[in-house]
Amino acid sequence: MDLRILLILLLAVEIFCVVANANLVFPVQRRQASLTGIKAHDSSRRGRILSAVDFNLGGNGLPTVTGLYFTKIGLGSPSKDYYVQVDTGSDILWVNCVECTRCPRKSDIGIGLTLYDPKRSKTSEFVSCEHNFCSSTYEGRILGCKAENPCPYSISYGDGSATTGYYVQDYLTFNRVNGNPHTATQNSSIIFGCGAAQSGTFASSSEEALDGIIGFGQANSSVLSQLAASGKVKKIFSHCLDTNVGGGIFSIGEVVEPKVKTTPLVPNMAHYNVILKNIEVDGDILQLPSDTFDSENGKGTVIDSGTTLAYLPRIVYDQLMSKVLAKQPRLKVYLVEEQYSCFQYTGNVDSGFPIVKLHFEDSLSLTVYPHDYLFNYKGDSYWCIGWQKSASETKNGKDMTLLGDFVLSNKLVVYDLENMTIGWTDYNCSSSIKVKDEKTGIVHTVGAHKISSSSTYIVGRILTFFLLISAMLNSVIN
Ligand SMILES: *[C@@H]1O[C@H](CO)[C@@H](O)[C@H](O)[C@H]1NC(C)=O
Ligand SMILES: *[C@@H]1O[C@H](CO)[C@@H](O)[C@H](O)[C@H]1NC(C)=O
Ligand SMILES: *[C@@H]1O[C@H](CO)[C@@H](O)[C@H](O)[C@H]1NC(C)=O
Ligand SMILES: *[C@@H]1O[C@H](CO)[C@@H](O)[C@H](O)[C@H]1NC(C)=O
Repeated sequence: MDLRILLILLLAVEIFCVVANANLVFPVQRRQASLTGIKAHDSSRRGRILSAVDFNLGGNGLPTVTGLYFTKIGLGSPSKDYYVQVDTGSDILWVNCVECTRCPRKSDIGIGLTLYDPKRSKTSEFVSCEHNFCSSTYEGRILGCKAENPCPYSISYGDGSATTGYYVQDYLTFNRVNGNPHTATQNSSIIFGCGAAQSGTFASSSEEALDGIIGFGQANSSVLSQLAASGKVKKIFSHCLDTNVGGGIFSIGEVVEPKVKTTPLVPNMAHYNVILKNIEVDGDILQLPSDTFDSENGKGTVIDSGTTLAYLPRIVYDQLMSKVLAKQPRLKVYLVEEQYSCFQYTGNVDSGFPIVKLHFEDSLSLTVYPHDYLFNYKGDSYWCIGWQKSASETKNGKDMTLLGDFVLSNKLVVYDLENMTIGWTDYNCSSSIKVKDEKTGIVHTVGAHKISSSSTYIVGRILTFFLLISAMLNSVIN
């Protein structure tokens, strides 16, 4: 399941909330809205059109390419564990809630699912539509808002699935780095979505089912922004996704080691956009029209850990593929599930196929090795190519460029929202990084840990989640 946020449907006016006595029964209804209506609404309301609306991400076909990195967090008092997908393409944390009728009850990935129950957490608080969080999220007071009405949320993802519900406030429990390399649990009160109605894959499938999604987008509603609003956390986070042995690191805080080179983030975008200049395959720069990567009116290329593969404009894709396959003229390439180009190859792919280098503004480059962009399909000698043709037409008619997990894997990727840069470096994600405590200035080592599970799948995909937050945080946020 490729989850790609297309649009945050902040359709306050279209959502009707009914609260039945104190029980918080919450039927949510959304008025039918056409896609163009939503886009128009979204651009006028948020001042940013998510031109990814038309983006077609391909199916959720091959089980080997499901790009689901997730982490365990604690919510409520007493704290219960929830497994949530880590997604840099969306802006809030939400989990399935107890009144949800169509939420998955079991998961094929060997984790126990938990529904969040506000009534069974001593610290759960109702978030009224009058709450500041609500009015700033909706950029104004919701029409017809009364104090006893909850603040609703609704998100649609690129694969057609959607979640709607209402916000609640409760304690988030996480690991705080407090030694080398020890961690201790700490908590902080945050506002997150309580999922009451799910549709699409969230509702119907136990395949890869999780409790929810933690969004690391730039909006003020994200967990990162909420913690940063206290002034005790810098808005800097990083991930290191390990495809060799699985797992990896996800941490908040300023990384002091390794150092990464950076490229500017395009400001005021819904996603993490950077400026891609050109692409080099096997030492040759692809000959492309100068405006090739100008989708979204020059606003560049989207970096998104919630997407698995990498999507390129057609003209780029065609050139890249012919260069990638040039060394293997006798290879028989066939189409699997109508979207993946696959072949049989028994040699070492790193010697049989070229390295692809993406060059960004400020001379930052991203090296993608054959073992990163080729993935196994049905056994060791069958491979499929992770580069995909972008199917979208953005506003100016340009295909968009979107880089997902496979190009970001085995690299430390640092998102610095203080300085509006993103940077990366090739890295062994099973080793450790050094992160600085904002308050004390002490540098801590954050290592990759594995959360044990009976399922090998979960070991392969779970990230440890560390927040480097000063001990003062509690008193400030609470
Ligand atoms: C949150 O942290 C405080 C202080 O450490 C602790 O007393 C409280 O029990 C914690 N709450 C939860 C839900 O873990
Ligand atoms: C987000 O939060 C920042 C800092 O608290 C504030 O300056 C800004 O206006 C907020 N943005 C929105 C859209 O509410
Ligand atoms: C952010 O920018 C400031 C000022 O240019 C600089 O001093 C600081 O080192 C930068 N922070 C990081 C993490 O690069
Ligand atoms: C990566 O780091 C781990 C932990 O330090 C180490 O065991 C492993 O050998 C390293 N892998 C590579 C390829 O260097």
